[in-house]
Amino acid sequence: MYKAPRGTSDILPQEQAYWKYVEQKAAFLCQLYGYQQLNTPIFEDFQLFARTVAGGTDIADKEMYIFEDRSGQKLALRAEGTAPVCRAYLEHGLFNLPQPVRLYYIGPTFRYERPQAGRYRQHHQFGCEALGDADPVLDAEAIDLAQRFLLSLGLPEFPIQLNSIGCKVCQPKYIEALKQHYSDYIARLCPDCKARLARNPLRLLDCKRASCQKIAETAPKIADYLCGGCQAHFQDVQQYLQALDIPFQLNYRLVRGLDYYTRTVFEVQSQAEGGQSGLVGGGRYDDLIEQLGGKPTPAVGFASGIERIILNLKEQKINPPGLLKPIAFIAYLGKEAKTEAAKLASQLRDAEIAVIIATGDKSLKSQLRQANSLGTNYTIIIGEREVKIHSVVLRDMITNKQETLSVTEIAKALER
Ligand code: HAM
Repeated sequence: MYKAPRGTSDILPQEQAYWKYVEQKAAFLCQLYGYQQLNTPIFEDFQLFARTVAGGTDIADKEMYIFEDRSGQKLALRAEGTAPVCRAYLEHGLFNLPQPVRLYYIGPTFRYERPQAGRYRQHHQFGCEALGDADPVLDAEAIDLAQRFLLSLGLPEFPIQLNSIGCKVCQPKYIEALKQHYSDYIARLCPDCKARLARNPLRLLDCKRASCQKIAETAPKIADYLCGGCQAHFQDVQQYLQALDIPFQLNYRLVRGLDYYTRTVFEVQSQAEGGQSGLVGGGRYDDLIEQLGGKPTPAVGFASGIERIILNLKEQKINPPGLLKPIAFIAYLGKEAKTEAAKLASQLRDAEIAVIIATGDKSLKSQLRQANSLGTNYTIIIGEREVKIHSVVLRDMITNKQETLSVTEIAKALER
């Protein structure tokens, strides 16, 4: 027996109402904020991710799905959504439009991670990106949109963690200071942090091991190293958030798992333990588009994992609205009646009445049993007699009451 690959899952019919609920809320909010949908391919040139996600991050080093196609081109499954959006922005000359260009996406993302609850090898992200503008009001807008998304789904207000990690002017000085601090503790660092010290020192700050966290507690704070421009930008972001009444917590150790961030970074964590707690992650990435060959183009955005959102909805016992469900089952007896049943089903669907038609040559009893298990409110029965007199029997599946109606009356009766 084949099984879905480890870390992936089928989204079964009974799960679909959650997915529609989350996707429709996301799409509605994006329209409310003027973000337009952009769909990018599921795979890209490997270099797009290799260059932007950068070495020293887990995604670049261990998690990308890389393959060669039949022509020998090296490709990677989408490891995250931001670099593809930037690639499309450059490829289609979206920089010629009035800036900022606001875009959103919903789609699968692939990372070879150790699967656990809320952590998958294929997960789906809803993400928003505003490209071409450095205004701190856009950082606040991204955070506002992310928070409204969670609240509009009925989730409680989870705290927003906020930090600024500076720019290419001030960040290198901070990294030097950080390295200096950690160099006194090398022997006590976990093997991952030893590697981080050499390749990606910022990530030292968010190691989850207690012994490494102790060293991070006394590490220099990035806030003390921000240049004037970054300081003013960060102040403004906070001021806009306060004006919008969006509570946030400053977290000087928040650095994010991708390497392209500059200035603002933020995350929303739920209270859940372990792998499913990160609901939203994002920030500013002012150098990424230039790194891809474009002109210097500031940008900001975030993404949220839909599986984790749904896990949290279930934890909070939030039920999504149900999907359209067939109201009637059409049963028939005999070949002629079967043709009439098919015609009636088509007419009812023309009137946007959802129905399911029986199949095969089952007895009436067995067709009624099927209607019962499908849970339709009504069964429409067409026998030889009904064919002759152009009528149908409408059976209420709860009261078991039956009435004979003409074919023209049935749609009206069901609409009622
Ligand atoms: P990220 O934090 O790597 O950021 O992923 C965004 C969100 O995707 C996470 O907050 C989490 O909800 C979900 N997620 C990530 N990995 C998994 C996984 N293995 N299983 C289930 N859910 C997962 C980014 O990808 C950035 N591109 C976000 C961004 C957009 N920054 C600026 N613009």
